[in-house]
Amino acid sequence: MRDELAFTWEGRPGRVVFGAGSLQHLEREVQALGARRALVLCGPRQRTAAAAIAARLGSRAVGVFDRAAMHVPIEVARQARALAAQSGADCAVALGGGSTIGLGKAIALESGLPILAIPTTCAGSEMTPIHGITEAGRKTTGRDARVLPRCVIYDPDLLESLPAPLAVTSGMNAIAHAAEGLYAEDGNPVLDLMAEEGIRAVAAALPQLARGTGPGQAGARAGALYGAWLCGTVLGSAAMGLHHKLCHTLGGSFDLPHAGTHTVMLPHTLAYNASHAPRAMARIARALGAPAAPQALFELQRATGAPTALRDLGMPEPGLDRVAELAVQAPYPNPRPLDRAALRALLQRAYEGAPPQPDA
Ligand SMILES: NC(=O)c1ccc[n+]([C@@H]2O[C@H](COP(=O)([O-])OP(=O)(O)OC[C@H]3O[C@@H](n4cnc5c(N)ncnc54)[C@H](O)[C@@H]3O)[C@@H](O)[C@H]2O)c1
Repeated sequence: MRDELAFTWEGRPGRVVFGAGSLQHLEREVQALGARRALVLCGPRQRTAAAAIAARLGSRAVGVFDRAAMHVPIEVARQARALAAQSGADCAVALGGGSTIGLGKAIALESGLPILAIPTTCAGSEMTPIHGITEAGRKTTGRDARVLPRCVIYDPDLLESLPAPLAVTSGMNAIAHAAEGLYAEDGNPVLDLMAEEGIRAVAAALPQLARGTGPGQAGARAGALYGAWLCGTVLGSAAMGLHHKLCHTLGGSFDLPHAGTHTVMLPHTLAYNASHAPRAMARIARALGAPAAPQALFELQRATGAPTALRDLGMPEPGLDRVAELAVQAPYPNPRPLDRAALRALLQRAYEGAPPQPDA
């Protein structure tokens, strides 16, 4: 168990502009980066919003690349890198969720191009130096300071168009970053504060966002995005354990939706670790205003209509053995030692949508 008052703190550079309507500061922020030729990145569903951003930048925009896709396929990264080079871009403006920001990182990894991120989900990638690219069905990830966005504009108004189910699952994804940060070996008291407050803010907003992200939900959108910023910051600084590794394996090997997988798995992975991380569990429970963290998250899932079963996400049951096998193959820090049989049982419960079972 980590000694709470023995730690290393490393502040990450990066400017954050937060608030409803803060997209109005885009031109100012692009100028502050010293950029004159911004390439705007987005996914196909956010083409219109990205075109509006390019129009807002006027002669400071050199184009829009609208093919960002989940897990950054190498072919897409190559196209975007080529366009950035051909157009003489001196900055990438990434509008979207983790997929678009991941594409910006793929460009920055090679070229060092500064990224200005405008997140429109709660995934938190904009606050991390973590990059990932998928080639021939295999996702490779790494950490590199060059890919950390130089500036992040968080405008909760941009979440208005986010479908409610996605708002809920990406909020759960954010909670997962903070929860694992609370028991990470390389955590520290500042990250703990951020994690607890991040979980509280996101969890408080989700029941409202489940009913809709549109007008009338300004407070919930702002609360969720504020929490996502905190949770993303934790992910950027602390090593992740069993939960993130299992989700990575499930997503990478079976092409399951990223945020939905995090949502289903979180109560179960926390239950697995509960007995070996009592202080972290107490903080998560306090943030959720409930006696037990895994059960409270399971109830939050049900209250928000979020998915609770891997089978509903398209997971094939025979694949569970392989996931349990992979989970114990590459060792990584986790409060509770990895036990193949216990993990296989955990995966079965997650597959079926059964409640989490502490100490199982
Ligand atoms: N590197 C990191 O630190 C990190 C952290 C979290 C997630 N990720 C990566 O991010 C990806 C998942 O990101 P995500 O969960 O944000 O999903 P996403 O970026 O794939 O977005 C999901 C869908 O929602 C659409 N969308 C997003 N915001 C919208 C909005 N406001 N209005 C309408 N549509 C909107 C997108 O166009 C897309 O079709 C995964 O590849 C994951 O590995 C990386």
